[in-house]
Amino acid sequence: MTLPANSLIETARTLMAPGKGLLAMDESLGTCNRRFAPLGIAQTEENRRRYRELLVTTPQLGQYISGAILFEETLFQHSADGTPFVDILKAAGIVTGIKVDAGAQPLAGFAGERITEGLDGLRERLQRYAAQGARFAKWRAVIAIGDGIPSRTAIEANAQGLARYAALCQEAGLVPIVEPEVLMDGDHSLARCQAVTGEVLDEVFTQLHRHAVLLEGMLLKPNMVVPGQGGVPASVEEVAQATVQTLRRKVPAAVGGIAFLSGGQSSPLATAHLNAMHQGLALPWPLTFSYGRALQDDALRTWGGDDANRTQAQQALLRRAQCNGAAALGQYSEALEAV
Ligand code: 13P
Repeated sequence: MTLPANSLIETARTLMAPGKGLLAMDESLGTCNRRFAPLGIAQTEENRRRYRELLVTTPQLGQYISGAILFEETLFQHSADGTPFVDILKAAGIVTGIKVDAGAQPLAGFAGERITEGLDGLRERLQRYAAQGARFAKWRAVIAIGDGIPSRTAIEANAQGLARYAALCQEAGLVPIVEPEVLMDGDHSLARCQAVTGEVLDEVFTQLHRHAVLLEGMLLKPNMVVPGQGGVPASVEEVAQATVQTLRRKVPAAVGGIAFLSGGQSSPLATAHLNAMHQGLALPWPLTFSYGRALQDDALRTWGGDDANRTQAQQALLRRAQCNGAAALGQYSEALEAV
């Protein structure tokens, strides 16, 4: 089968449209339920559907959001009036994406490290997702920093998984988002995160080349270079500078674009970091956001499971989307928070 290279590149470009970014709303069942629990929202399929309906029906969302990453359950769900979510997104000018990994499991023999699963049967699943309207996909690998970790074994195994997934996506005509996440857990320094992130990116691109992945037809979803949550804090400028330096050194200019995860940063900080990255050196690729928590936190808290708060919750989501859209152009200012 020949690669539909042009359509891959076109989809990647659409997702990287200036002033827009991605909404990650692909929390697995367990993760979504974990976000609901502290807010007292019952952990049911119907509540997950209602919440995701609120997100995708947010008026004007398509002004700032180019693509939405869904969890498999959501890809096949409908709004209360029976409209498939995929159609709602399409009408809003938002490209549908799908999380296709099956989660991270303990890596045998390597305490504290994990390997992402989900390659078995992936070729067939991708066909189903594409038929349902998905145009891009996501696979997340996690790398922990700690005493003696990450090991080379964890880095190489996860990079290989990402590359095999990416090649299968491109074969199916889906743009792969390659997400190697170096976690913020721990008390490590900014410098250590920078060293580990660099090593991980080196291996990821080695494997992507080995598996003949078309760089122009894929997107990278990396962590920002930040100190561990228990480490010495860094300024917004230090994070932006270390992140851009690492990416410029490690990510080929041919890559279709880079869209960050937020990884547990507060919503305003994730916005400030992205904005600061656009103030310095010229960047060879579009650089934007693909946030989960940093877009949704305010909206989820405001909704709290009660549809009486729906409009306000949608406004909260739109606010974060707008602020991050501005940050992706380097045009964010605190005044936007009050608009
Ligand atoms: P966060 O922005 O909450 O880290 O989520 C992004 C994501 O897609 C994680 O896989």
